[in-house]
Amino acid sequence: MNVLLIGGGGREHAMGWRLSKSGATVTSAPGNPGLADLGEVRSIIPDSPSEVAAAARDFDLVVIGPERPLAAGVADAVRAVGVPCLGPGIDGARLESSKAFAKDVMTSAGIPTGRYFEVSNMEAVGKAIDEMTPGPYVVKADGLAGGKGVLVTDDIEAARSWAHECLEGRFAEAGDTVIIEEYLEGPELSVFVLTDGVTFVPFGTARDYKRLGDGGTGPNTGGMGCFSPVPLPSGLLDSIHADVVAPVLAELRARNIDYRGFLYTGLVLTADGPRVLEFNCRLGDPEAQVVLPRLRGDFGAMLMAAATGEGLDRESLRWWEKAAVDVVLASPGYPEATRAGQPIHGLHLVTHLDDVLVFHSGTRFKRGEIVSSGGRVINVVGMGTDIPTARRHAYDAAALIAFSGKQYRTDIADEVSVQKGAT
Ligand code: GLY
Repeated sequence: MNVLLIGGGGREHAMGWRLSKSGATVTSAPGNPGLADLGEVRSIIPDSPSEVAAAARDFDLVVIGPERPLAAGVADAVRAVGVPCLGPGIDGARLESSKAFAKDVMTSAGIPTGRYFEVSNMEAVGKAIDEMTPGPYVVKADGLAGGKGVLVTDDIEAARSWAHECLEGRFAEAGDTVIIEEYLEGPELSVFVLTDGVTFVPFGTARDYKRLGDGGTGPNTGGMGCFSPVPLPSGLLDSIHADVVAPVLAELRARNIDYRGFLYTGLVLTADGPRVLEFNCRLGDPEAQVVLPRLRGDFGAMLMAAATGEGLDRESLRWWEKAAVDVVLASPGYPEATRAGQPIHGLHLVTHLDDVLVFHSGTRFKRGEIVSSGGRVINVVGMGTDIPTARRHAYDAAALIAFSGKQYRTDIADEVSVQKGAT
């Protein structure tokens, strides 16, 4: 199978690696040095529907990794030229590209989520914040902001001024509407499914560490590490599939939205039960980097089945009885003022280690060497029979990779001890 993979981050490197293991030929655009090891890399603008659709004709399947091309309508354009495409169209991608739309879908479908207000001026911000007092306050830009459009704070003045900055253009039109949301207390859980729009197959669980610093301190990031699977009480995952995933997919169908691709549900496990924090229209990054190494079977065939609506089969999905832990190595200054361009040393020391995988996020070639090119640079994934073993493999390997100003969390997966039987 010839696959065109759109994207160039760690998630796409993990997807390309897993597709290659299934025997697919992978061409990536724009790709990265890790993907370049797997196959051809093309310089197509990933968010351009016309460019991707023109290239798509050479392939059996187009797989779209990130949210921005999906929100820009790239999947619609590819399907319009008759090529199967994994990823929802612009209408389904609104689940992620508009938090107000996602809340509306949740309300219609009776999905448990936090109370919220959708506001677009400071007077309404003031009233909404008063309703949420004494806090903590959760203030979100409505649109796509790369994981950086959310503030969670106890400080009412900080909440007001964040909302003001959003409305004044800090995230361009993504902040024209702001969501002020009830704070949900409890551990977070990411749940993935793959769907052809009618049926879905469970696609694993992960827990992401979104703050920059140890102990959940510092600013929000795209994700500084994660682990999979997440140990859960018996029956909880089934109830999330029944009470959240099935109703949201039914609600999308009722709105004539043909959703084909991954659905990522971000939840908080509150004392009153699971509550949905967000939906994303793709696999998570870095969560894909810990879910895909645990997957057995033919990944390419699964993606083709979801894209075409033919033969998506729950029975064909199997997992290795292994845990995975990802530690993200980030650039100095990330996330506010990333300083990239640092030569990366030691990659050759980890490439052939057993139970370690390396996925590139923000790297590029410069005069024959690999240098950093973004905030999140390298994912070091440790595998093991349990989370503590996987964690040790990840951190031992992470110590061997060096670049100036490298920053990473030292507490990824440090409190997880149970893993068997979880998916
Ligand atoms: N790791 C969070 C995300 O992919 O949205």
